[in-house]
Amino acid sequence: ETKPRIPVLWLHGLECTCCSESFIRSSHPLVSDVVLSMISLDYDDLIMAAAGHQAEAILDEIRQEHKGRYLLAVEGNPPLGQDGMSCIVAGRPFVEQLKEMAADCQAVVAWGSCASWGCVQAARPNPTTATPVDQVIRDKPVIKVPGCPPIAEVMTGVLTYMLTFDRIPPLDRQGRPLMFYGQRIHDKCYRRPHFDAGQYVESWDDEGARRGYCLYKMGCKGPTTYNACSTVRWNNGVSFPIQSGHGCIGCSEKDFWDKEGFYQH
Ligand code: SF4
Ligand code: SF4
Ligand code: F3S
Repeated sequence: ETKPRIPVLWLHGLECTCCSESFIRSSHPLVSDVVLSMISLDYDDLIMAAAGHQAEAILDEIRQEHKGRYLLAVEGNPPLGQDGMSCIVAGRPFVEQLKEMAADCQAVVAWGSCASWGCVQAARPNPTTATPVDQVIRDKPVIKVPGCPPIAEVMTGVLTYMLTFDRIPPLDRQGRPLMFYGQRIHDKCYRRPHFDAGQYVESWDDEGARRGYCLYKMGCKGPTTYNACSTVRWNNGVSFPIQSGHGCIGCSEKDFWDKEGFYQH
């Protein structure tokens, strides 16, 4: 209670805002507790009341007053083609804002597949040269929290870890927190016994689908996707894509839009 809340600046590059949509639905911890008691969300141009010069002034203020201490949360990525003109924030290319604010932060949290890998805007032929955040910010730790979007409780869980232990979580070789991305969907999938028994859904709505058989032959990417959906699940732990009857499309994996296609394996 005596510890000052850590300032968080949440920037938005090329993205769809659904990572924010996911974040605000966190139930463990409640997002209201995160925003009101754990962090000081000083800038987020999606949800903040301030606008224009008043809003931009906050960035300079936090940067000067909390040099080396604030966290930079980034949703979306910078497009580097055409001098960055495909994403303009406050009248200049987003990449400039990103570099400027990253210069004095403690660490960068790259929310979602957009910030982590590039996602749909970086899919072939990537007309704007959308570029993952860690390829632009090279001198700060970049914690990747991929998913399109990431699970709400994974997002707030990463923040909670950092605030509780005052360090960044252990990461895998690609920069993802091991506690949420250390296993494949397939490793903990409740349909796994059907996979092991060779019981597959062969076409949509067949007898196997009704019996809840494995979705591998319908293109499920669970065997190659590292994420926490089969353990943490979505919507307050209610379900996840496979439980809803559709295979995993690998939305937290690098270049998932370009890899083979959702319905092939
Ligand atoms: Fe939207 Fe997906 Fe990008 Fe998140 S990762 S901003 S959900 S497109
Ligand atoms: Fe693996 Fe997908 Fe089958 Fe689940 S449904 S057991 S993740 S292949
Ligand atoms: Fe994405 Fe697969 Fe989870 S599609 S939401 S990683 S089950």
